[in-house]
Amino acid sequence: MNRRNFLYSFSFSAAAAILGGCEKGSEKNSRLDNKIDEAKKALQESPKNIAEDKLKSFTSELKIPKEIDFEHIAKAKFTAQKSLAALYKEKKTDLLTFQGDLPNPTIRIKKGDDFELDFTNGLEKPTIVHWHGLLVPETMDGHPKDSIATNMTKEYKYRVNQSAGTFWYHTHPHGRTGEEIYYGLAGLYIVEDENEKRLNLPSGEFELPLIIQDRRFDKEGNLIYKETKQDNVGVLGDVVMVNSTPHPYKNVKNTKYRLRILNGSSARVYKLAFEGIEEFTLIGTDGGLLEEPIVVKDILIAVAERIDIIVDFKDKKVGDSVMLKTLGFKEGSIIGTNTAYPGFDAKMDIMKFQITELSNSTSALPAKLNTIRKMKESDATNSRTITMEVIKGGIWTLNRKPYDIHRVDERVKLDSTEIWILKNSVHMAHPFHMHGVQFQVLDRTSKIDFPTDKGWKDTVLVMPTETVRIIVKFTIPGLFVHHCHILEHEDHSMMANFLVE
Ligand code: C2O
Ligand code: CU
Ligand code: CU
Repeated sequence: MNRRNFLYSFSFSAAAAILGGCEKGSEKNSRLDNKIDEAKKALQESPKNIAEDKLKSFTSELKIPKEIDFEHIAKAKFTAQKSLAALYKEKKTDLLTFQGDLPNPTIRIKKGDDFELDFTNGLEKPTIVHWHGLLVPETMDGHPKDSIATNMTKEYKYRVNQSAGTFWYHTHPHGRTGEEIYYGLAGLYIVEDENEKRLNLPSGEFELPLIIQDRRFDKEGNLIYKETKQDNVGVLGDVVMVNSTPHPYKNVKNTKYRLRILNGSSARVYKLAFEGIEEFTLIGTDGGLLEEPIVVKDILIAVAERIDIIVDFKDKKVGDSVMLKTLGFKEGSIIGTNTAYPGFDAKMDIMKFQITELSNSTSALPAKLNTIRKMKESDATNSRTITMEVIKGGIWTLNRKPYDIHRVDERVKLDSTEIWILKNSVHMAHPFHMHGVQFQVLDRTSKIDFPTDKGWKDTVLVMPTETVRIIVKFTIPGLFVHHCHILEHEDHSMMANFLVE
């Protein structure tokens, strides 16, 4: 253990105890002084900031993003910009936003409608917006090669032509996606359609978007990103924000809620469960609604994945509360992360639902939600293997090749169906993502049950040393990327290009 690591693992409370003792005590003891100096130094050097009171109190009300509804507007405007706002403490911190504050707005649009948005890059370096999960033409997708320079504007215009679902948007510059999303450049994108409308799912105040992101703050309340080499494994934070609100609460009625959850973190995988409610219902995955609801006790959600769930507070009475938490993901990695922060295995409370009102709504959930045409192995005319590996120098790669923005790694025939064999040789789980498609999971070699494998996916978690086979039809011509969606892996440089022609 080197000195820096030692300082990092020096616990905050121990350091504080020594410092506290120092202020009160009068005896001069040089050994103690040394210890105090070291502790002070540790406090300065280390970002440790867990204000236990704040984290446990759940006193901030959940912010709900405002909506840009394309039923009412024809065109939207985004400017990636530096902003100042208070997140964790009263002091304002540097952020990146699309419209000046966080959370960024949620886009809501109907299948068949035209999406139009002017995006201006108000940052110092080139960047671009990507519509994660949306099936849009190559020029609209936001490949890093299409980044625009400072003060330039790109016009997005495309027709939304896919089923209802929860998608998201974020910037996608070459090598800096992690940092930009971390400081704020991401938001939700909801597509609605007629099928979904018929289902009468909880809506309005009973439909909540939840963007879960773990973050790090210094003692003043400034958001901080990478600090050590270890952070290249994946940046994990100790403060979990939902919709840019650290450890929030939300007042609810004792009835069904639809939660559209996005894991917008850098690296953390959450195993979500509700303390006080044993079961909840999965109704949708990345690409839209499942055929039938699936009742679960807990569920894994990796970076960039979305889950659409129904949670029912009907057995609760006014005054009760229910905690949304993560049970930890110890199966996910044996690779050490920055020890100053809770690891992949950490159990953490995320947000608190407080039952404050009774409800008399008793709507039942339909047994059939959607029709999904199941793709068969025999539909595929080709298969290819994508390996997930670390090469010399600790570089994360696909097929042992660090990302080259100009290299075409895979050539695919337009309108063909292929099986992609995702082979993870690393002792760490990777969420594998593809642009320009929604795919289905055929099978996986591990025993873990992923209910999300039953729906449309654009991101799939491949467990340590596991192989997952997916089947995918390529219907949009052009150059797209596939990559690990742990942001620190995608940036360095677990990404590749595929060309559909
Ligand atoms: Cu969230 Cu390359 O995408
Ligand atoms: Cu994407
Ligand atoms: Cu990865």
